[in-house]
Amino acid sequence: MAVVVLGSINMDLTTYVPRLPAPGETLFGSAFITVPGGKGFNQAVAAGRLGVPTQFIGRVGDDAFGKGVLEMVAHEPVDISGILVDPDSGTGLAVISVDDAAENAIIVISGANMAHDGLEVARTRDALQSAKVLLLQMESPLSASLAAAQVARELGAIVILDPAPAKPLPPDAYQLCHIMTPNELETEVLVGFRPTNRQEAAEAAEILCERGLATAVIKLGSQGVYYQSATESGFVQPFRVNAIDTVAAGDAFNGGLAVALAEGKPLAEAIRWGAAAGALATTKPGASSAMPTRTELEQLLAKN
Ligand code: RIB
Repeated sequence: MAVVVLGSINMDLTTYVPRLPAPGETLFGSAFITVPGGKGFNQAVAAGRLGVPTQFIGRVGDDAFGKGVLEMVAHEPVDISGILVDPDSGTGLAVISVDDAAENAIIVISGANMAHDGLEVARTRDALQSAKVLLLQMESPLSASLAAAQVARELGAIVILDPAPAKPLPPDAYQLCHIMTPNELETEVLVGFRPTNRQEAAEAAEILCERGLATAVIKLGSQGVYYQSATESGFVQPFRVNAIDTVAAGDAFNGGLAVALAEGKPLAEAIRWGAAAGALATTKPGASSAMPTRTELEQLLAKN
């Protein structure tokens, strides 16, 4: 496998509403869809659809949602043989609302995703034998993810952590992961302030790098992406698209970034791949369902 993803897989229950409801308010929605999601699985589909061999490691429950999600993901270009069916946990669920401005609000019920343990670390070790990149997020236990990061480093793979949903990280996380990709909200949790422009993103990246992180990638949504390593820094402008649903745009970014790095592209180009994948994901409804193909991504890159 070129890319290995350890992380969450959910059934996403998504409603489309004119605006996000206020506390105590009942709203009529315009549509409802049920699609496979989870930040981990979305990143795996993003990488797989972009054309590199990709394996996903995770857990579902032994329930109707688990059976449903496994049937729905079977056609994706992702090796799912590393998904364990856990008899003691429910399948992860995400209850999502998307408004007319394409913004979203998500509630996650973790279920089996938070039951990851040494079994997932062992499966990740097997999958990583020939891998170039390991993708991690924070919807599964950090202890298992960091153990997998240690294995990946020993085997020479690049470790990318998407610190989402964010919580403060232990000091060793910054040394175990090569790249972190927080958005504005996640950056605030990590460094104590929310970057709103390139200058503030640079200040946040500097703090993360001082903690030992090799490369900080600060995603500023529709403003673009700032990146910094020991040898380079820069800003990637956003791709302008007709956004209808921003769910999983960050996951698409990490999938695109991982594929480009697995193919040996330089960091600045890899971040353009991530930004293009993220933009394209906002043009379609749903989570894993919205991940772009390689043809779509190359066409967007060629136009910009
Ligand atoms: O990043 C989007 C994802 O967050 C959704 O697919 C949902 O399952 C939650 O994990």
